[in-house]
Formats: sequence, structure tokens, C-alpha cells
Amino acid sequence: MKLKAIQNTFQTTLSGIYSKEEIDTIFFMLNEAYYGITRLQLALNTNLELENTDAILKALQALKAEKPIQYILGETEFFGLNFKVNQHVLIPRPETEELVAWVLKWYSKLNSASQSLKILDVGTGSGCIAITLAKKIPKASVFALDVSGNALTVAKQNAVLNNVDVTCVEASILKPDTANKLPDFDVIISNPPYVRMQEKELMKPNVLNNEPHLALFVENNNPLLFYNAICKFASNKLKENGALFFEINEYLGEEMKQLLHNYNFKNIELKQDIFKKERMIKGVY
Ligand SMILES: C[S@@+](CC[C@H](N)C(=O)[O-])C[C@H]1O[C@@H](n2cnc3c(N)ncnc32)[C@H](O)[C@@H]1O
Repeated sequence: MKLKAIQNTFQTTLSGIYSKEEIDTIFFMLNEAYYGITRLQLALNTNLELENTDAILKALQALKAEKPIQYILGETEFFGLNFKVNQHVLIPRPETEELVAWVLKWYSKLNSASQSLKILDVGTGSGCIAITLAKKIPKASVFALDVSGNALTVAKQNAVLNNVDVTCVEASILKPDTANKLPDFDVIISNPPYVRMQEKELMKPNVLNNEPHLALFVENNNPLLFYNAICKFASNKLKENGALFFEINEYLGEEMKQLLHNYNFKNIELKQDIFKKERMIKGVY
């Protein structure tokens, strides 16, 4: 079958779900991943044919059912690095790359930048935050904590894939004895679950029906559950002048500032993402 014809089938099948450009991008990603055919090769030879179309047509059915392309391919890119993903981990988001960039900028200004740091990522999922920090700050010892053993299996694979050492810890940050299993840290960073149940209806079906709810949701009446627990943990486990970085719900910036203030953090800073939404906060202990 001619690839051009398959491309047209992609456009007609997926036009209610994705834009024309997104459909083409997905189509080219699949061709490259499954058949090693690049976008350029296809542009230069519009008569290219596939002998066996099973894989790409199966992917089309999954896309039609609104499965994210990252789960279909089983991988994605974060901060220029490759990460395996499956249904047990959240697909890493661009706003989380901004959070990591903020940590790296803060680190580059430290006087003690030559010293090794102990870093903890709470709710590591695919390990994207922990592994990127381990890669970019090779002297750091990085710990990655998650309550999900399945998520940690993915994080461990990703550490090997990216050739870094990360200590994975299976524990709940909501349990007080978790602190006893860990050393003191210079940096604690987290992108915890923060979507209120009431915000479910604003979410796209591809997220809602595919990504792990354990990674996403909190009860409406306790939206800062994880932030509260992590602030408490951090106030015990951060070294003097240690820093706490969070990705946050864009609607809860002021509440987050107050929370950090209540736990006696100083130099509290809310930060906007590239879309001018308050999506990150930092405090120093
Ligand atoms: C929003 S996801 C973030 C994943 C990843 N850090 C990222 O930024 O893409 C939140 C993560 O918190 C984990 N989590 C949920 N409840 C937890 C708990 N009680 N203790 C530790 N981790 C938890 C989930 O399994 C999930 O991996």
C-alpha cells in the first residue's frame, strides 16, 4: 500500500481529534519508529510503498480511540533525553521541563556548585525529573520516590537508558515513617498529583482515559494534600538553605505561597510558565 494513501487515511480518520499538522507529525513519527522511513524520504519519494501495514494501521486504531502517541510508541522525549513510558506513568509535560530548567538555573548560581548535592524527586513517575537532574548535575546523588512499584520499574529502566545512577525508593510521601528511610537533602523537587476531581470535566479524553489517575487526581476538599505532606517532610529533611521546588496547579498559586510561608520557608517565589500561568513555586528552608 502506498504511504501517501495511508497518510490520507490518517487525515480522514483522525481529523475530529487532532489538527492536520498534528496528524501529519504523528504519521511521520510512526513511520520513522516502525519502518525507519523519515519525513524527508517520504517527501522525496511520494510513491513509497509498505509491504506490511499491520503496525501502522493498528496504531491508527489506537489513535482513533484517543490513546496518546507516546503510549503507542512506548517512549517520549524530555529535556532532549529519551524516556520509556507506559500506562503506569504520566507522560512528561513541557511545563515540567520548565521546572527542571529552573532548578538547573538555581544550581548554576550556587557558590557551592562544585560540591555534590543530595536531591530528592517525590512522585517520580517515569523518572523524568530525577534522571534529567542526575544527567545535568553529574556530581549529585539523586533519589527518586514513588508509591507505585510499577512506575519505579519504568524509572529504573529510564535511568539505565540514560546511563545515570538514581536511587529508587518505593514509599508513600503521605506516611510519616517514609522520612526515616531517607537521608537529608539539599534539594527536594516534586510534581505531585494536583488535579482536583472537579477539574476532570475540563480534561481531554486522551488524558482522562489513558494516564494513571494515581498520578493526577486529588480530592476537591483537600487539593494541597501532597504539597502539605511534602512541605512537612521537607521541613524535617532539608538541610539549612536547602531548596524546595514544586510544579503547581495554576489556580492555587496564592494558596501555595501561604502554605510555604506557614512552614517557614523563605525566598518564596512563584513562577509563570511560557503561557504566563503560575505553574511553579520555590522556597528555601
Ligand atoms: C503528576 S505525577 C508526576 C510524575 C513525574 N514526576 C512527572 O513529572 O512527569 C505524580 C506521581 O506521584 C506518584 N504518587 C501518587 N501518590 C503518591 C504517594 N502517596 N507517595 C509518593 N508518590 C505518589 C504517582 O504514582 C505519580 O508517579
